[in-house]
Amino acid sequence: MQTRYLGLLMLCITLLSACKRSALVDDFEDGSLGKWIVEGSAFAHTPATKATCPDIFGYKGAFFVTSKNHGTTVHGQMTSSAFVIKKDYINFLLGGTSSPSAYVELLINGKNIVTARPVGNNQNVLNWISWNVSKYKGQRANIRIVADFNEQRKGFILLDQIEMGNRAKSSYLESYSDCIQAKKKWLLIPAEDSEISSLLSIVNNNHNILGVEQKITPARTRIDYYVPIDISNFKGQSLTIHISGVDKKDLICKNICQEDEYTFKYDEPYRQLWHMTPHFGWANDPNGMVYFNKTYHIAYQHNPYGTRHNNMHWGYAVSKDLVHWENRPLIIAPDTLGSIFSGSSIVDVNNTAGFGENAIIAIYTSAVGNNYERQRQCIAYSTDYGRSFIKHDGNPILSDPSRIDFRDPKVSWVNNQWIMSLATGQTISFFRSEDLKHWEKLSEFGEGTGSHKGIWECPDLIRLSYKGQEKWVLLVSINPGGPHGGSATQYFIGRFDGKNFIADTMDYPLWLDAGADNYAGVTFNNIPDKAVFIGWMSNWLYSNETPTFFFRNGMTMPRELFLKHDGQKVILASKPAPDIYQACNLITEEQAMKINDVGSIDQLLQNNNGAYRIDFTLIPRGNGKFGFKLINNLNEHADFMIDTNEGTISLDRSKSGLVSFHPEFARKPIISSIVKKNMYKMELFIDKQSAELFINDGDLVFTNTLFPATVYNKIQWVAENCSIAVENIKIYRINSN
Ligand code: FRU
Repeated sequence: MQTRYLGLLMLCITLLSACKRSALVDDFEDGSLGKWIVEGSAFAHTPATKATCPDIFGYKGAFFVTSKNHGTTVHGQMTSSAFVIKKDYINFLLGGTSSPSAYVELLINGKNIVTARPVGNNQNVLNWISWNVSKYKGQRANIRIVADFNEQRKGFILLDQIEMGNRAKSSYLESYSDCIQAKKKWLLIPAEDSEISSLLSIVNNNHNILGVEQKITPARTRIDYYVPIDISNFKGQSLTIHISGVDKKDLICKNICQEDEYTFKYDEPYRQLWHMTPHFGWANDPNGMVYFNKTYHIAYQHNPYGTRHNNMHWGYAVSKDLVHWENRPLIIAPDTLGSIFSGSSIVDVNNTAGFGENAIIAIYTSAVGNNYERQRQCIAYSTDYGRSFIKHDGNPILSDPSRIDFRDPKVSWVNNQWIMSLATGQTISFFRSEDLKHWEKLSEFGEGTGSHKGIWECPDLIRLSYKGQEKWVLLVSINPGGPHGGSATQYFIGRFDGKNFIADTMDYPLWLDAGADNYAGVTFNNIPDKAVFIGWMSNWLYSNETPTFFFRNGMTMPRELFLKHDGQKVILASKPAPDIYQACNLITEEQAMKINDVGSIDQLLQNNNGAYRIDFTLIPRGNGKFGFKLINNLNEHADFMIDTNEGTISLDRSKSGLVSFHPEFARKPIISSIVKKNMYKMELFIDKQSAELFINDGDLVFTNTLFPATVYNKIQWVAENCSIAVENIKIYRINSN
């Protein structure tokens, strides 16, 4: 009896293992690559082991496959022999660098069916990947592993244990892949606001129509927004959508759709009414600001695939009056040189670069690498008034492999040559060129002066005049290390002798704005004798979390920069650009008031839509604390106070509305020093998520974001230990239609 059972057991085991073997495509455990065809230089002809790759984990048994990892150019592929798909899933272990340069693909009749790229946080660890291949059962297939790395794009790929099974082995991640017919204008990809991103590519005829893979944050348990991708050029053709790292239960997998119409949402609570914001997606630094053909052109750091900082492109918008902005399609997209970081544009009036007279030329940083550590300057030109840009085929035009932070070129025409200011770590370097393509280094500024608490970014060298004399101002944004935490812009006043910037002796650091939300700002090119400035109205401390849905962050209102004496020293002052005044319609002038304690205007405007300006002059009697609160009908309030004993101005945002989105946003009041005066002439410009306060014709500007649940429609003045007179009270609507 016993022997009979033993025999049966043995038979079962043999059958089971035969079955298992038939489901195995390869595990490389015989120490060879068997019938795999190896081409190119990326893969060795034998599998790797612990002895050859001691720091790799997560493979099964003793052998696995890896591409060579020398940081030099390796290109190659390995293709398995054909096998018949017998089960619902192909499971395999995959590791290495998550990069467009390395992937594994399933081929049927030589045609790509599905692609997978390494996932997970540690490139040295292999993870399970599962492909649902149920609809291909019975067909013959091959698996191919590809690696294509070079000096700029370093990395490697790891593969092991390719097997078929009736369930997915991947613990939580699976690549989504689907082939659709393009029928409508928009492909809509459901997304969720999150930090965890996946890679998206959309392939048409072996070509990713997005240029390179883009990071999206796929909708898993909720759909916050749809990423709109214009596919109108592909109508009637097939597109294969690949998304890494999604679970088949995630909402994204069932909700990708196509629409002819996509309405960009402009009606969410914190959508600015008269400031530049992107029609969809993320924005940071203003870029490529140029005045041309009576139009203000602004490009900006843009993520068109989500609402966080990622996939840097140059978005684009134009305006005739600096108040009404028309969003245009993006103009520069990432390529193999990397993401498109900040830079500037010029109008090449004399055709110095040879792209055409009056071509608009964008000079930007291409940044590549795991931490964007390879940064090189490139150019692109437009001969259709900024509607489209063509990348120069000789890019990059300026690089320095010894530098990690080497970015944000601001170029202007100075004494018959192009001068570029470039952020180089904790200095600004100056270069010259005659044709924008060949650059010669002139000098470097910054060591031992100003604030060095953060990386120097986004410089601008501006020619101004003061009392009839030429002066130069250098703007330098730094992050972190700003006086209110996070990012802020410092400036230096001095002279530029064509080669060097020499700063006057002053008490540096000096800050362009006393508020928390004005960063990376620069001035427009091609406006003679005027320095019209726009900054990014946010702070890197919390900008990725600000409480909006379809877009995130935007620009400050435009200002004119000028030099003036504030009673203590010469400063770089800001006043609103004249166009902004023109957009203001006076609604009421109020009676002056004397305030010993509190006094208010309980309704600033009827049907207040959130775009308005209030002017008033505060005249304190005696030393003390005084100021004003902006209040809404939910009693949320933003408290602005001047303390003449301390010599400070402050804004307390703690009760101002929505503040919980980031612990730093309202943790402490924003406090800056202010020069004591007999009177304080205030001009306060309000939009849906901002308050920009200009004091005493440019002595101080205080730019801050605020997120009240409803519009502030009441102002209350307060005086503590002193009294104040409030005079010249005027309320304006800002025309935003
Ligand atoms: C400043 C900055 C720039 C860089 C860009 C990237 O905010 O860090 O230095 O070019 O943002 O988006």
